[in-house]
Amino acid sequence: MDLNSALSQIKLRNQNLELCSQLDIELLVLDILKISKNDLYRDNPLLSQDQQDRLLKLIDRREKGEPLAYIREKIGFWNLDLHIDQRVLVPRPETEVLVERILENFNSKKLNVLDLGTGSGAIGLALCSERPLWNIVCSDLCPQALSVARRNMKKNLLKVQIVNACWLDSFVEGRFDIIVSNPPYLSFDDPNIFSDGLRHEPLKALAAENHGLKDIEEIIVNSAKLLAVKGSLFVEFGNDQTRKVVSLFKKNGYSEINLYKDLNGDERFCSGKITKC
Ligand SMILES: C[S@@+](CC[C@H](N)C(=O)[O-])C[C@H]1O[C@@H](n2cnc3c(N)ncnc32)[C@H](O)[C@@H]1O
Repeated sequence: MDLNSALSQIKLRNQNLELCSQLDIELLVLDILKISKNDLYRDNPLLSQDQQDRLLKLIDRREKGEPLAYIREKIGFWNLDLHIDQRVLVPRPETEVLVERILENFNSKKLNVLDLGTGSGAIGLALCSERPLWNIVCSDLCPQALSVARRNMKKNLLKVQIVNACWLDSFVEGRFDIIVSNPPYLSFDDPNIFSDGLRHEPLKALAAENHGLKDIEEIIVNSAKLLAVKGSLFVEFGNDQTRKVVSLFKKNGYSEINLYKDLNGDERFCSGKITKC
């Protein structure tokens, strides 16, 4: 049976596909056949019975809400090809905005940079790919996540330092020119946590106490001590947290506080500078 016939048959058998889009199915087929999109359209290849059965199992996982990145065990982030599995949060396209804002603000001059709560390594590795002279440390509390970050570093032929630490506990004062973090910021009672996609992701990567603000606060407070003179902190936060995050930056002595919007036009990132004497 060729691909077109196989797809029509699968559609007939799964008339009520709700989460698994046509694009998802195509990407899964590419993975199963280990071919490119061009090959798929040009050759209309055959799917064996075994390949059809595998495809149906993957579609079933997608229909149960599992993120496509976990099923495919990969995702594109910035210019990187990242291995992804359930040990880490699936990097989101909006986090690329954070990478973009940092690159806009700093040239390629050598800097010391810390990516706190690195997960898959997405932010730190993207920065490393663009600024090879920067010394980048990627840290996370979760050793399993760090195994994924290490794998992604090797996969993308990059070099960062990978450190197991609870936020800023293990670092020396005044060492970093830039600290960046996309920390857990959802509230534990946020109903989205139990939604189809998020319920498959590590809770430790998603939610924090104090209405999602506990980790953000710890990072803002302690980065003020750890940043070098004129060092900058960049953090991602939730839709409804702008006022509280800006107030934490102000309270902790940051200046040049800037807010940045995500692709939907919502304020989701804040940066501030520490100017010590
Ligand atoms: C929202 S995820 C961000 C992952 C990745 N930076 C990204 O943007 O895709 C938050 C990360 O913070 C880590 N984390 C949670 N608590 C932590 C702590 N106390 N110290 C360091 N990292 C922590 C989690 O393991 C998770 O990898």
